[in-house]
Amino acid sequence: MVDVLLGLQWGDEGKGKIVDYFAPDYDVIARFQGGPNAGHTLYVQDKKVVLHQIPSGIFHENTTNLIGNGVVLDAVTLRRECDIVSSFGVDFRKNLYISERTHLILPTHRALDKASELQKGNEKIGSTLKGIGPAYMDKTGRNGLRVGDLLDKSFTTQYIKLRLKHQKLLDSMNFHEDISAWEEEFFDAIDFMRQFKIVNGEYFINDKIRAGKKVLAEGAQGSMLDVDFGTFPFVTSSNTISAGVCTGLGVAPQKIRDVIGVTKAYCTRVGSGPFPTELHDATGEELRKIGNEFGATTGRPRRCGWIDLVALNFACMVNGVTKLVMTKADVLDAFDELKVCTSYVVNGEKTDQVPFQMTKVNIEPELKSFKGWKQDVTKMKTAAELPGVMKEYVAFINQYLGVNVAYISNGPGRDQLIEI
Ligand code: GDP
Ligand code: IMO
Ligand code: MG
Repeated sequence: MVDVLLGLQWGDEGKGKIVDYFAPDYDVIARFQGGPNAGHTLYVQDKKVVLHQIPSGIFHENTTNLIGNGVVLDAVTLRRECDIVSSFGVDFRKNLYISERTHLILPTHRALDKASELQKGNEKIGSTLKGIGPAYMDKTGRNGLRVGDLLDKSFTTQYIKLRLKHQKLLDSMNFHEDISAWEEEFFDAIDFMRQFKIVNGEYFINDKIRAGKKVLAEGAQGSMLDVDFGTFPFVTSSNTISAGVCTGLGVAPQKIRDVIGVTKAYCTRVGSGPFPTELHDATGEELRKIGNEFGATTGRPRRCGWIDLVALNFACMVNGVTKLVMTKADVLDAFDELKVCTSYVVNGEKTDQVPFQMTKVNIEPELKSFKGWKQDVTKMKTAAELPGVMKEYVAFINQYLGVNVAYISNGPGRDQLIEI
């Protein structure tokens, strides 16, 4: 049996915290897509930890963690992260497994990412520059190197062949940065990776499922960044939605049970691209300040706005969400008035659907107002204590989406999660 936990907006919904909270209920936590563009924040022994490549179950002694075939893996980031995890006394050699089919991010992928963004100028995606797009391009272009390849004697030869191909591309893009330092780090990290448990991920996970173990698939990014269903071209290069679990781990759709969708009580986006409910005013500034909305991977300020039910409804549909988790509810504590977007007016026409084209049209959000609860909710432990006004806000969202908020997160801490 596999449950899925993923983000329903443009990423950074608080997935890491929620996976870490639920991890004791599962035997396996598996990442199925994305790479070090992800930044999942957890608090361990009251210390903040940001994970980019390692699944968020790593701090639980009895939880197995799998980096699935759908992930793109940066060996250097993985190595750095292993050092952090070790400093908490966790033996990553024991509980971390990597699929041999996982594609590797090469130093030239990072260079290509940067070159591509530079070439796009004002139309840049706002990529995290971690090499994600180029690595997935080499996967679908059938050129990439996989984790299983690093156990082969011909790895360096294969690497050099691909590097030459990349170099020609970089030359044609007029990109001449010296990447030899990255390469040195890369080969050190590749050596380090040889000590890992590199497994056939699809047999590994299906054997666990057959043995009755519980698996939680941990999404990265968010549904609106999905390469097919997100705000293309301002998206990432993988399928972030629940369907990505089947191809990213090798599990059949019938094995999937719950799809837990995580949404903030408002909305943020980092990088370029459409964001209909974005606030360019003092309220947006307040959300950023109170919510500490700065990217966990790049440190960039996140764009902030009201919760967008049109986009959320779409995300619930394409994911088959069965349960919602609402995070960062406490960030709204101080606001007199809250708004939720219930429809879009696209080029003058009202719709409750996400349009195909979101960049070349004018989208005005229609907003419904709610009274703020004006109460500190961060110390509350039970649903009964939550303010009535918050319950009205949540009830409206439940009704609009046809799925219920099952948990409300009222602070970044492990214990700040209330079951409804
Ligand atoms: P992820 O990428 O979805 O795992 O989310 P990030 O870690 O990038 O961003 C979420 C941020 O919000 C982190 O700094 C978390 O510590 C923080 N956070 C998570 N849940 C809550 C919450 O309920 N309230 C507050 N105030 N912060 C939260
Ligand atoms: P987590 O898992 C928020 C955004 C980037 C950019 C676009 C493409 O922490 O929620 P990429 O590096 O994939 O080429 O960037 O996607 N992006 C994220 N935004 N959270 C993330 O991950 C993101 N991963 C990528 O900012 O707009
Ligand atoms: Mg993040």
